Amino acid sequence: MPQYERLALLSGNAHPSLAQAIAAHINRQLGQINVSQFRDGESHVQILDDVRGSDLFLIQPTSPSVNQHLMELLVMIDAAKRASAGRITAVLPYYGYARQEKKTNGREPISAKLVANLLTVAGADRILTMDLSAPAIEGFFDIPVDHLSAIPLLMQHVAALQLENVVVVAPDVGAVQRADQARRLLANRPLAILFKDRPEPDEVEVESMVGEVEGCTVLLVDDLISTGNTLIAAAQMLKARGAQRVIAVATHGVFAERAVDNLAASPIERTIVTDTIPLETGAPHIEVVSIAPMLAEVINRIHYGISVSDLIRSIGDAERQQMAYPSRR
Ligand code: R5P
Repeated sequence: MPQYERLALLSGNAHPSLAQAIAAHINRQLGQINVSQFRDGESHVQILDDVRGSDLFLIQPTSPSVNQHLMELLVMIDAAKRASAGRITAVLPYYGYARQEKKTNGREPISAKLVANLLTVAGADRILTMDLSAPAIEGFFDIPVDHLSAIPLLMQHVAALQLENVVVVAPDVGAVQRADQARRLLANRPLAILFKDRPEPDEVEVESMVGEVEGCTVLLVDDLISTGNTLIAAAQMLKARGAQRVIAVATHGVFAERAVDNLAASPIERTIVTDTIPLETGAPHIEVVSIAPMLAEVINRIHYGISVSDLIRSIGDAERQQMAYPSRR
């Protein structure tokens, strides 16, 4: 028996289509909520359904506009708490501010920690998120965090492309663990590592490389693509080192400014991302793998008190992992 009898799903304005897809996968309706803005820009929320005592999942990645979506999520949590929800899980597959998890220079904030404090103080009981730039952010919370990885799903997609002679490449040192996870899922393909410098924010220089890519199909693996400069600079260096083809994979397609066009003009022949962030480009060189089935399964597991770690360990076979759930209301 679940701890909370009723499961309820609500979406903010950040990614309604993902929320709809999650609801469809678990055969439930999204709840009724108004999330709007006053004319001065302040966020306003009214939950229209009775959520008293329910196991409430608020689906709202803090994707661009990051500040607006974060504030919306915070007021949604506050409204849910004041409406006496039994348990509130903030589902933010993309966690904005995750790249500010430490001070790089003096007198800087640690914004990822501030966001963790805000979510907790607002009243979140649990966090469900995905591929945090820095896994240590999990430790910024004193409430349970389910930190999922989309890499197994993305590698399933890559495996179906039947690429030959693949070398997995980490575009910077921070990406090594993720790239290593990817290469293991691709029957232990070799790994190469690039060393990146950022002379200015959003500017990238690739300084050196460990590994061999000559004549190979390179698979660049990263957590997110914002300007695209990291992957484009990496691809240029890899081509110069003799790579035959370059394909890029990342969990979060932020695609700031002209990133989509810049990627099209780069040596990267295709870019594969998930739908943690809404993407409306329809660009042929960008492929999107949906994380909705995985999030739906995890939400069901949290609700029914079933291990999420077991699923994380073997997501490669998502369908086999889908469990039968007793009641769906
Ligand atoms: C850390 O640097 C991250 O893992 C990404 O590589 C980076 O944030 C991507 O940003 P951009 O696309 O702007 O280079």
